[in-house]
Amino acid sequence: MNAEIKPVSGVLFKSLGFSLVLALLFTLVANLLPQVEGEAPVEQAVDLSSLTVESFSALGERLFAGKGTCALCHNTLGRAPDILALDMQIISAEHLQDQRYQGNADDTESYLRESMLDPGIYVVKGFGKKGSNDSVSPMPAVNKPPIELSEIEVNAVIAYLQAKDGNEVTVPLPSEAPAATVQQVSPTVLADTVEAVVTKYGCQACHRMLGSGGDLGPDLGKIGDRLSSDKIRQSIIDPNAVIVEGFSAGVMPDDLAGKMLVKELELMVTYLASGEKPVPPPESGITSTTVGTTR
Ligand code: HEC
Ligand code: HEC
Repeated sequence: MNAEIKPVSGVLFKSLGFSLVLALLFTLVANLLPQVEGEAPVEQAVDLSSLTVESFSALGERLFAGKGTCALCHNTLGRAPDILALDMQIISAEHLQDQRYQGNADDTESYLRESMLDPGIYVVKGFGKKGSNDSVSPMPAVNKPPIELSEIEVNAVIAYLQAKDGNEVTVPLPSEAPAATVQQVSPTVLADTVEAVVTKYGCQACHRMLGSGGDLGPDLGKIGDRLSSDKIRQSIIDPNAVIVEGFSAGVMPDDLAGKMLVKELELMVTYLASGEKPVPPPESGITSTTVGTTR
C-alpha cells in the first residue's frame, strides 16, 4: 500500500486540493473494505386506498427534492425564485396581474401548472436566460425528458406548493390507479451505471449529456476534449474553484463531494473524460463511503 501512496507526496501533494486528497484516501480505504451488495432501489406505488391530501402533498415534497430536481435550482442561492420561502398563492396572484403576463392561467393551481409545463410563457423578472432580457426561461419543462414528471406527479407537486403555506389544496386526488411511482433511491445505494448516477444527482437539470438536458451549465458532451480527468473530477467536487466562462458561479451544487459515492464519481469522471463513450460498470460494492466531507 505504501508504494501506492508514495508518489502523491511533496509538491504534488500540496498542489492537490484538500478534497482531492480526501477522495484519494477514501478510494484507498474503500478498496480495502469488504465488498457489500447494495439493496435494489424500491419502486413505491401510490396506494390509493390510503391517499389523503396530506400524503399526496408529502409525495409532492419528495418529488420536489428528488425526481423533479426542483430543489437543485429553487433554493437559497438566488439563481431561481426561492419558492419554498415564498407563499405561492400570493406570488401567483401578483404575477397574474403583471402586464408582462401573457399566459392562460387564472388561479394559483393553473399558474403553478403552467409554470412547470411551459416555463417560457412567463419569465420572472431577473431570472431569464443570460442575455435574453427575461424573454427565455432557463427552467426545463418538467413533464419532458430528462425530468418527465407524470400528470399525477405534477399535481402532487402543486398540492405540496399549496399545502406548505397552509393554503387550500385545489388539485384533484388521483381517482384511478396511477402509473405514478416514486423511486426511493437511497443515497447509500450505489448507482452503478452512468445513467443511474446522472438520475440520482440530477446533472441533466443543468447539463446536456447522454443526448438531452438543460443549458444552465455547459454541455458536457465534448468536455473530454478540453479537460483532463483530474480537472473534470475537480469541477465536480469543487465547482467554484474554476468558473467556466459564460456561466454563473454558485449554480452547480457544491455538496456533491459529500454525497457521491467514490465509485459513482469515478464512473462519471471516466465517462466524461472519454467523450461520452460507454464505460463498463464498476464491480458493485461499497454502499456507504462518500467522496469527501461536506464543506
Ligand atoms: C434548471 C433549473 C430549474 C429547475 C430544475 C426547475 N426550475 Fe422552476 N424556475 C427556474 C427559474 C430560473 C425560474 C424563473 C424564470 C421563469 O419564470 O421561468 C423558475 C420558475 C418557476 C416557477 C414560477 C415562479 C414564480 O415566481 O412565478 C415555478 C412555480 C417553478 N419554477 C416550479 C418548479 C418546480 C415545481 C420544479 C420541479 C418540478 C422546477 N421549477 C424545476 C429554474 C428551475
Ligand atoms: C443546478 C445546476 C447544476 C447541476 C445540477 C449540476 N451542474 Fe455541473 N455546472 C453547472 C454550472 C452553472 C457550471 C458552470 C459554472 C462552474 O464552472 O461552476 C457547471 C460546471 C460543471 C463542470 C465543468 C464544465 C466545464 O466545461 O469545465 C462539470 C464537469 C460539471 N459541471 C459536472 C456536473 C455533474 C457530473 C453533475 C451531476 C453529478 C452536475 N455537474 C450537476 C450547473 C450544474
